[in-house]
Amino acid sequence: MASDTSPGNGHTRLEPPLDAAWEALALRFSVSPRHLAEPGPTLAQWLAAAELAARAPDHRALRPFRFVVVGDHQRAELAERFAQGATARGLPPTEVQAARDRALNGPGLAALVVQASAVLDEVPVHEHWICAGAALMNLLNGLHLMGFGAKTLSGSSVSDPAVAEAFCREGEQLVAWVIAGTPRHAAHARRGNDSPVLGLWRPPGPESAGG
Ligand SMILES: Cc1cc2nc3c(=O)[nH]c(=O)nc-3n(C[C@H](O)[C@H](O)[C@H](O)COP(=O)(O)O)c2cc1C
Repeated sequence: MASDTSPGNGHTRLEPPLDAAWEALALRFSVSPRHLAEPGPTLAQWLAAAELAARAPDHRALRPFRFVVVGDHQRAELAERFAQGATARGLPPTEVQAARDRALNGPGLAALVVQASAVLDEVPVHEHWICAGAALMNLLNGLHLMGFGAKTLSGSSVSDPAVAEAFCREGEQLVAWVIAGTPRHAAHARRGNDSPVLGLWRPPGPESAGG
């Protein structure tokens, strides 16, 4: 294990521009759609971020995820599908309208679609999810490094058949939306979870309960 790190700056061996990238990544926080303004990412910028997403660890290169960008001219059609789903769920007209409006939230929109069924015994489904999660993280980081704010949102729309069937092929699942745009102000950290993200293994023994 490397030991030439100092407290509070565990990456002292990095040189610019990697050091700048580290600092930038450490400052990625989600930005709510209401704090996002035009412009959103262009298709080329979505593609650049998706190419970073494709660097996710992917056992047997199954590529169990893909992103689907919804064009500006397609948002109205998506909104009608959100409304259709809300109607099918028996929601009252005001909530149907709120569902319709949610599809129009934020300047840019992409769907995260995951192939969530095992196709090889060697690669269990949980590895598909891990790969897709890593891909999502890299997509968000890519958008962030280009100066965009973004937030991942799911909600009931992702399980509405009227919406999901418009994005998914057989065996796929519509997991979430990535909403992206230009942050109106710098994103800031929210109160997080203080549980440790790293520990040292203590093998189970007479003095340890394991873990
Ligand atoms: C797949 C997925 C779906 C999510 N869906 C929602 C959601 O519907 N509503 C919500 O408030 N946050 C949702 N989140 C969490 C936010 O995207 C975000 O991570 C959270 O607000 C914490 O912000 P941070 O990214 O700055 O830590 C979701 C996250 C993931 C990974």
